[in-house]
Order: sequence, then structure tokens, then C-alpha cells
Amino acid sequence: MAKRPAGPVTPRGLNHLVLNVRDLDEAHHFWSDLLGFQQVGELHQREDDPSPMVMRFYSGATDDLSHHDIALVERPTLPPPPENWSMSAGECAVNHIAITYPDQESWKQQVEFLQDQGVKINVRIDHGMTHSIYINDPNGYGVEVLYDLPREVWGHDIDGALNYARFLPTEGDEVTEETEYVSDFS
Ligand SMILES: [Fe+2]
Repeated sequence: MAKRPAGPVTPRGLNHLVLNVRDLDEAHHFWSDLLGFQQVGELHQREDDPSPMVMRFYSGATDDLSHHDIALVERPTLPPPPENWSMSAGECAVNHIAITYPDQESWKQQVEFLQDQGVKINVRIDHGMTHSIYINDPNGYGVEVLYDLPREVWGHDIDGALNYARFLPTEGDEVTEETEYVSDFS
């Protein structure tokens, strides 16, 4: 008889995230028109479905393993979002969702695009393993727009990199100014 597993199998990672949103068109504008996710499908309504939903599926830059990263489900009865997003306060169950851009240049272009579209940057932080801005979607979910630093910068001390935070300006050209990589988190 085959040996049974003694413990859980470590997964490869997250596959996709499904968010409840108040208004699907409003959320589509944020996640697709502003953040660049491409819609790849929508839920087809079935007559025999006892609990029909309005749902759309979105993907980032696709690779062989990717079909969708995010899906949105319309839920008009959601409570309104807080006036000002904060990572450390508020009643929203989702704190933030981190979106990876491939490299520093694409991140810079994306942040400049968001600035030109009038999106408010709540926080701008260099972490030890990412350089990030934090914005929020129309439902109050925080969204961290980041690029990853090379593993040799942070691989020796992930906890140190997670705890490292250098706060930077949230407006103007300084938001996307190139900053150095720090490897000593002590
Ligand atoms: Fe984060």
C-alpha cells in the first residue's frame, strides 16, 4: 500500500484571486484600463444555476501556466469603501493585493501612467525585496504596484527585507526616481 503523506504538500503559490466588487464596470476600469490586466473571459449564465453571478476573469502577461490571475464578482450590497485607504486601519477584509511588473522600467512606466490618470498614490515604499507604491481600488482594496529586486539583494535575509521600509515621496517625479538596492537590513 502506498505510503500516505505525513503532512501538507507545499503549493507552488497562488493561482488566482477572486474579489467581490460593488460595480463590475467600475472595477473593470480600475483593474483593466488602469492596471493593465486583460479580460480573458466572463461567466456564462446557465438557466439551471440556482445562484447566478456576474463575473469576469482577467490575466496579466501570460506564460504557459497562466490562464487568469484575478476574477471580479459583482456584489452591489458591499459596504462603501473608506474615504482614505490605510494599511494599518479600516474595516476592509482585504488589506492589499500585490501586482508585479516585470522590471524597473515597466514599473516606472506604469506608475507614470497612473499619475497621469490622476490615481492617488497612498504610500511609496522601498522594501528590501521590492520597490512599491500603494494605491486602492474603488472597493477599498489596497493594491501594491511593485517590481522585484534581484534575489541576491534579499535572499540571505527575507525577514530583514520584509521589515525594511524606506518611505519616499508620493507625488511628482521623485516617485519613480531610481533608488539604490540595500542588502544590509540589520
Ligand atoms: Fe505587500
